[in-house]
Amino acid sequence: MRTQDIDAEWQALLAARDGGAASAADARGQPDARSGVRGRTVAPLMAHDAAAPTIARNGAEPSLGPRDCPQATQSARDLAWVPGTLSDLFGPILAPPVAQDGCRVAGRLCQTLDGRIATACGSSQWIGGPGDILHTHRLRALCHAVIVGAGTVAADDPRLTTREVCGPNPTRIILDPTGRLPVTHQVFTEGPPTILVTCVGDATHHGSARVLRLPAPLDLPLLLTRLAAMNLTRIFVEGGGITVSRFLAAGCLDRLHVTIAPVILGSGIPAFTLPQASRIGDGLRASFRVFPMDPDILLDMPLDRARPTLCR
Ligand SMILES: NC(=O)c1ccc[n+]([C@@H]2O[C@H](COP(=O)([O-])OP(=O)(O)OC[C@H]3O[C@@H](n4cnc5c(N)ncnc54)[C@H](OP(=O)(O)O)[C@@H]3O)[C@@H](O)[C@H]2O)c1
Repeated sequence: MRTQDIDAEWQALLAARDGGAASAADARGQPDARSGVRGRTVAPLMAHDAAAPTIARNGAEPSLGPRDCPQATQSARDLAWVPGTLSDLFGPILAPPVAQDGCRVAGRLCQTLDGRIATACGSSQWIGGPGDILHTHRLRALCHAVIVGAGTVAADDPRLTTREVCGPNPTRIILDPTGRLPVTHQVFTEGPPTILVTCVGDATHHGSARVLRLPAPLDLPLLLTRLAAMNLTRIFVEGGGITVSRFLAAGCLDRLHVTIAPVILGSGIPAFTLPQASRIGDGLRASFRVFPMDPDILLDMPLDRARPTLCR
């Protein structure tokens, strides 16, 4: 019964992906009914939160119909799911864009307790538990496009597909301004549509990827405008640290999800890299909700395009 329920809730989110509002808050055009509540532990993975707006309570029915999703059902057992959790967490991701560029942008990282996303030699598998992998695939499925930086493609050779969940694959966007990635990477040889964003060369394709050439230095607001023109308006910035940090510094993130794993590395690639701050006030202090995701925790932060004081 429980896995059927979580599958139904997920199907409703997928239906909202391309259509109706995902929650009462979204229907009102608000990114999150709880924006501005700092440090609230929602604990939705442990107890039913009656206040949470959900698709089911909003009356929208899943439109995709029954689907054979053995992997999703299996993965769902990894989460201590209670009704409303998924729509509470992902509803704000599905909210309509409010920024002038026409996009709604969610960033995500999984970091150690000491703020590392990989070892110094680039190994990041796996900092988080199975729940974080599932969470990442869900974000891919709900968004039109997934963005990663050249460093992530070079280190991980990822596929960026939704193989852990039911749902469509997003268009893959690779940021490689200097054209350093060889054509042999999986994103350029197989799988869903891919766009290589670069500032060099004159090729129209890189392997199977289309090339989008933009002026140097790469201007993220311009990139978002160009993606919106392609009807790619719900954008998931999956990593790595430099890429998410650049979106943060440019004030281009509506939402930030950070999974924190109880791991201390003491070295490695940093999650966030920003201009050097001399005062604590130079940084960005965000409100957040906590979603326990055993053995990790997930922080959901409504940034609403805010940026660190230092980057303004
Ligand atoms: N734990 C996690 O959540 C997670 C997620 C993803 C990746 N990772 C790991 O993180 C590591 C890679 O992360 P990373 O921070 O080193 O690199 P990254 O963010 O993946 O890629 C950074 C590179 O992408 C290009 N780039 C991205 N945004 C740009 C912008 N706005 N303007 C210009 N260039 C831009 C630049 O390429 P150029 O250097 O060519 O200019 C930049 O150096 C890998 O080890 C991977 O395994 C971890």
